[in-house]
Amino acid sequence: TGLVTVDPGFMNTASCESKITYIDGDAGILRYRGYPIEQLAEHSSFLEVAYLLIHGALPSTSELQAFEERVNRHTLVHEDFRTFMGTFPRNAHPMAVMSSALNALSTFYPESLDPHDPEAVELATVLILAKTRTITSYVHRTSKGEPLLYPDYSRGYVEDFLRMTFAVPYQQYEPDPVVVRALDKLLILHADHEQNCSTSTVRIVGSSNANLYASVAAGINALSGPLHGGANEAVLKMLAEIKANGGDASAFMKRVKDKEPGVRLMGFGHRVYKNYDPRAANVKESADAVLAALGKDDELLDLARGLEEIALNDDYFVSRKLYPNVDFYTGLIYKAMGFSESMFTPLFALGRMPGWIAQWREMMLDPQTKIGRPRQVYTGATERDYVQVADR
Ligand code: CMC
Repeated sequence: TGLVTVDPGFMNTASCESKITYIDGDAGILRYRGYPIEQLAEHSSFLEVAYLLIHGALPSTSELQAFEERVNRHTLVHEDFRTFMGTFPRNAHPMAVMSSALNALSTFYPESLDPHDPEAVELATVLILAKTRTITSYVHRTSKGEPLLYPDYSRGYVEDFLRMTFAVPYQQYEPDPVVVRALDKLLILHADHEQNCSTSTVRIVGSSNANLYASVAAGINALSGPLHGGANEAVLKMLAEIKANGGDASAFMKRVKDKEPGVRLMGFGHRVYKNYDPRAANVKESADAVLAALGKDDELLDLARGLEEIALNDDYFVSRKLYPNVDFYTGLIYKAMGFSESMFTPLFALGRMPGWIAQWREMMLDPQTKIGRPRQVYTGATERDYVQVADR
């Protein structure tokens, strides 16, 4: 078995070869299938990016249309599934509801479970992309105790997601085009990020030949932690707390730098980026545009800008190469759109779904794939004899 070395957090261990996403953390570069994230965010759509990530190339007009139609047609969920979604307590965290929903979805589609049958995998891919749009809106509805709406096939992916989330039943609802475009762009920015914690989880679950639903449900759970996708929710909590304590950004930063237990500048720092996260740059611009378009003047946005300003000029952050990551400004946009804090991470999961699916599929077809089974270095007791309880 050779020499085993410990690599906590897999800082220096590549688990696979991949053709999907390229990151240069020092230069702040992110590309999906070779295309710069900035170009995709500006010109593409979420479903087109999903197609690109999963199939490896940008679709032709007819391919894109067929894909969009297929996803659209599958957005309706079974009535029993709808009932199931309505049975969670109102104060349940939406991420727990969402991972349960993705796991439960597999029980309705047994014909889509075989990870080695290409038709089943394609069906599971479309079903998951389609129904995650419905599920995410239901997760929001159940947290409000509101009725669950049915999808409208005539609308686009993001537009109908917003309608199912925010419309009052039986009343006309037209989402603001600025909001539709901004959310579409945010979903694109979140769509993949190579071997992060949740994606590695999806791959390792799938490496045992578990089905796609089980694998992405595990990915949602990995994403829920505050050091990963849960950071967008944690940023807003942090900003609100600073505001409630009088809005003194410098005093808070002192606590961060003093490394008070549990106090970090949330939304800052990244394992791979040692430069400005290119997604954060894009999101920051969007935050200005969306808040202006919605006529919202958010004090918390000013506070966030103030924290960033301090950090970018402070030796603690500069010497450690800590810059804003994708989560620093997203929560402020989601809040302006009308989402509650607990919905921020489910929105991240909605966006990340194409990446998880693409990575799982790549792994299943990769001849190098083996079951994920890291080694350990044992540091416990050497052999000792069992002692009867009365003699201990
Ligand atoms: N605030 C204050 N100090 C920090 C921060 C922060 N946000 N991030 C890292 N540091 C310090 C850390 O204390 C350590 O200092 P020292 O060398 O003196 O011990 C140094 O910077 C390196 O940090 P690390 O924890 O060893 O780095 P890591 O690669 O293990 O962790 C991270 C990366 C993202 C978990 C971490 O930067 C962090 O906790 N950030 C805040 C949470 C966050 O925003 N997460 C979202 C990540 S991006 C998108 C996503 O995955 O959802």
